[in-house]
Amino acid sequence: MWWPTTMTLSEFLNWLCIVQLISGVMSVDTSSLQALLSPGARIDSDASQSPRWSEYKAPRPGSVVHPATEEDVQITVKWAINRSVPFLVQNGGNGWATTFKLDQTGILIHLDQLRSVTFNSNNTQATVEGGALISDVVAAAAAHSALVLTGTCNCVGALGAMLGGGFSNLMGQYGLAVDNFVSLNLVKPNGEAVTVTPRNAGLWWALRGAGPNFGVVTSAVLKAYPVPASRLSAWTGPLVFQPAQLEPVVRAIQNLTLAPEMALSLNFINQAGSPIILTTVFYHGTEDTGRAAFKSLFDIGPIADSTAVQPYAAWNDGSNGPCVKGGRRPNWGVGLASMDPGSWRDVYDVWAELIKWPSAENSSVLMNLLPTDKARSLPDSSSAYPFRSTVKMFAVFGAFYRDPAFDATAVSYGQRARRLWQATDGLAQHSTYINNAFGDESLQTIYGNSLERLRQLKEQIDPEGRFNEWFPLS
Ligand SMILES: Cc1cc2nc3c(=O)[nH]c(=O)nc-3n(C[C@H](O)[C@H](O)[C@H](O)COP(=O)(O)OP(=O)(O)OC[C@H]3O[C@@H](n4cnc5c(N)ncnc54)[C@H](O)[C@@H]3O)c2cc1C
Ligand SMILES: *[C@@H]1O[C@H](CO)[C@@H](O)[C@H](O)[C@H]1NC(C)=O
Ligand SMILES: *[C@@H]1O[C@H](CO)[C@@H](O)[C@H](O)[C@H]1NC(C)=O
Ligand SMILES: *[C@@H]1O[C@H](CO)[C@@H](O)[C@H](O)[C@H]1NC(C)=O
Ligand SMILES: *[C@@H]1O[C@H](CO)[C@@H](O)[C@H](O)[C@H]1NC(C)=O
Repeated sequence: MWWPTTMTLSEFLNWLCIVQLISGVMSVDTSSLQALLSPGARIDSDASQSPRWSEYKAPRPGSVVHPATEEDVQITVKWAINRSVPFLVQNGGNGWATTFKLDQTGILIHLDQLRSVTFNSNNTQATVEGGALISDVVAAAAAHSALVLTGTCNCVGALGAMLGGGFSNLMGQYGLAVDNFVSLNLVKPNGEAVTVTPRNAGLWWALRGAGPNFGVVTSAVLKAYPVPASRLSAWTGPLVFQPAQLEPVVRAIQNLTLAPEMALSLNFINQAGSPIILTTVFYHGTEDTGRAAFKSLFDIGPIADSTAVQPYAAWNDGSNGPCVKGGRRPNWGVGLASMDPGSWRDVYDVWAELIKWPSAENSSVLMNLLPTDKARSLPDSSSAYPFRSTVKMFAVFGAFYRDPAFDATAVSYGQRARRLWQATDGLAQHSTYINNAFGDESLQTIYGNSLERLRQLKEQIDPEGRFNEWFPLS
């Protein structure tokens, strides 16, 4: 017999019913919502159809609503407010924050049917829907011979990344993504739909850095930069170094003079059991200018060089591996004003120990360095993103494993690495890009000098605290 042997069959069936009843009570009854939505909208009770990049402390919704129109989003929010049903928006599903609290009593509003990216007649503006991925934006922009600022991983939600600030390979030329918004269509925490422009002073400021705390952005108009064919390519790709070369690599990066056309990332990767140091260089120009600009790295003697001139549509191709969803991936981000070779060696040692655990062999470290002069041409107070004039590099320590029993060990490694970096961060106060934060930091670390104004706006715009799952302000 496969049911508990102390039960009769009818007792067993009763027990099953009770179990079903309990799970029925736990989940959300969305039957009255479907009729209000447009015909293309869907509601699933199965959240596994909306996978996330990290399952560590991920939201666990009772139902998933897939709106088909911007108005469906508003209807869903109003419906949820009316019934006091908690809700959370999902775009690319890459956010790794540990501040999510959505459970079976709540709904996930997954924007995966709102992925259109359209251009005005002269390709100077792009309208990006709330669920578009970076891959959608890049494909559409390339087809229109225009550049639009996006992050460097195709799977990430375009607006999900932008609403926290938005770093891209083009930041040196065009600033942060939030500096390139023209207007945002927003469903506010009270269910009202509005178009936010610079005339809406408070919301315009708050959405550009702390967006997920102030409503659902159903679409945004962004500046686009029409360019000749020659500007639709860049020299980019990985240079591989041996672990023993870490210090000279760190010194060279620290000493680089960044032209606006440049970008660089540094990774620690375990490649088939061999730890390697990888830098991905980017120069929006020819191979010769790129090689000259990164000469100090070539002088160290990389053991492999896979750089090449790549078309715009292929710039993010290297991200396809890190983009795969699933598994547990807590990540700890820190902002740095400079790089200390000793601290980087210490973080390397922490990482090298972590990857010896067989279950955590694919854990990694990432750092992004981008030219900040263009972003710094605006004051820190110009948007809620607080670190224009202070932070130069963004480092992330990421544990990657599958077994929840490893959580506590992973957390101890992540916290150790973060402490090591912070001890030499060169900043007056520890700072973390909101989109890289873990969730145990102080709000001051995440929101910097924007915190006080954000709290005031939060009280006015979301007094009920309905948007409180992303490093909540109240
Ligand atoms: C592999 C990888 C690569 C990355 N590369 C970059 C990069 O190059 N540049 C960069 O800046 N960041 C990058 N990040 C960080 C990234 O910005 C954050 O992980 C971001 O939160 C992911 O957004 P998402 O839409 O994919 O995730 P989600 O988890 O869907 O969203 C993150 C948060 O934003 C909210 N949100 C999403 N869309 C909306 C919306 N339309 N309106 C209101 N709230 C919304 C969600 O509710 C959630 O709270 C990367 C992350 C990963 C995992
Ligand atoms: C929900 O909507 C009904 C019908 O419109 C209304 O009577 C009720 O007051 C609303 N409840 C809340 C909590 O908004
Ligand atoms: C592009 O078109 C818009 C109207 O859609 C116009 O306001 C703008 O001046 C044009 N820009 C250029 C560079 O032609
Ligand atoms: C740092 O840069 C300066 C000037 O660009 C150069 O003279 C010096 O050799 C560099 N140092 C290192 C360690 O790369
Ligand atoms: C690590 O990545 C490699 C290459 O993608 C893969 O074959 C392996 O299964 C991964 N290991 C774990 C523990 O996930």
